Amino acid sequence: MKISRRSQTAPFIAMDVLAEAGRAEAAGRHVIHMEVGEPAHGAPMAAREAVARAIRDGAGLGYTSGLGLPRLREAIAGLYAARHGVAVDPARVVVTAGSSAGFVLSFLALFDAGARVAIADPGYPCYRNILQALDVVPVRLAAGPATRFQPTPALLAGAGPLDGLLVASPANPTGTMIDRAEMAALIGFCEGAGASLISDEIYHGITYDAPAVSALELTGEVVVINSFSKYHAMTGWRVGWMVVPEGLLRTVQNLAQNLFICPPHLGQIAALGALSPEGEAEVAGHLAHYRANRAALIPALERMGFRDIAPADGAFYAYARLPEGWGDSREFCAQLLAEHGVAATPGLDFDPERGAGTVRFSFARSTAEIEEGIDRLSRMIADGPRRGMAAARAG
Ligand SMILES: Cc1ncc(COP(=O)(O)O)c(C=O)c1O
Repeated sequence: MKISRRSQTAPFIAMDVLAEAGRAEAAGRHVIHMEVGEPAHGAPMAAREAVARAIRDGAGLGYTSGLGLPRLREAIAGLYAARHGVAVDPARVVVTAGSSAGFVLSFLALFDAGARVAIADPGYPCYRNILQALDVVPVRLAAGPATRFQPTPALLAGAGPLDGLLVASPANPTGTMIDRAEMAALIGFCEGAGASLISDEIYHGITYDAPAVSALELTGEVVVINSFSKYHAMTGWRVGWMVVPEGLLRTVQNLAQNLFICPPHLGQIAALGALSPEGEAEVAGHLAHYRANRAALIPALERMGFRDIAPADGAFYAYARLPEGWGDSREFCAQLLAEHGVAATPGLDFDPERGAGTVRFSFARSTAEIEEGIDRLSRMIADGPRRGMAAARAG
């Protein structure tokens, strides 16, 4: 069978590492998961109870409206009033099958084949892979410590003609954030360049110093994407949302109906439970645990000699350059999993040009797991690269 050219995306390496870790676990090994951004706690109790109640009460769980359950759209709109002081018309909220479906919908709604969309490197790999699969050109900006790994108008000005810009704050893999003035400057650039702005706000709520700024605080001409996966710890429930400008709504609605019919009904019921006062109180408590993990991991990486550690203003990742003497992070991560039972993601997932020497550790799991992961990692680093790498090749 002939396979299309545009479908030949790179893999999402973090998921490949997760699968490899799963095989090691099936073979009886104990693995510490620092590869994927998956909160340890799972869905809040109020979400699980809402689902149990719905099933017990005989909910038929048929299709919902393509835009999502009206009550859920209202509750999501309410988040913007509560968190950002912004009034959002619930009609502009589109519930999606995770933020991942939001990317497909927004890219299709905004960009024709051949359009050029700027994203920062390092960045979340699926941005460039989904863009490429839709025949849209990802224009990768070489962001680094000097711009806190974020796009700037200066980087954008050197990128040639652009149809769009996708930003993430807090970002994956670095956790860095875009403050209000920087967001205003990026919005100004997009307005001047006629480029559409997409703001991935999936890590909102998981911030350690200042709260994150929503692009909606500054403009209505933006597509905001968010999800229940991270802050509400509901990765597998596949519920996310978009807030779209009114003029884009019908386009997105038509696409959503045709592509997905509707987001998962059960997931939407769970999301409503998660947004109850009990659900919100439970997930607010997770922040202290991420903060403790961050306080344990980042200084430990510094002690081990990891370099250029990104500041992690938010989210639950540490992105760093390997210590002196350690070469390729794919080999490093393979050895770490094979010999020490710690799964981590090589930087090439996030930065295909410069990521060969970097690695991302997720600290979303329990503090006990993260501490055990730090111990195992320290042992490998203490053994030194040459002996270690040679052993990996022999094995
Ligand atoms: C920055 C970013 N955006 C989007 C996603 C996808 O999340 P969802 O589960 O909502 O599809 C992830 C997942 O790790 C992410 O890190």
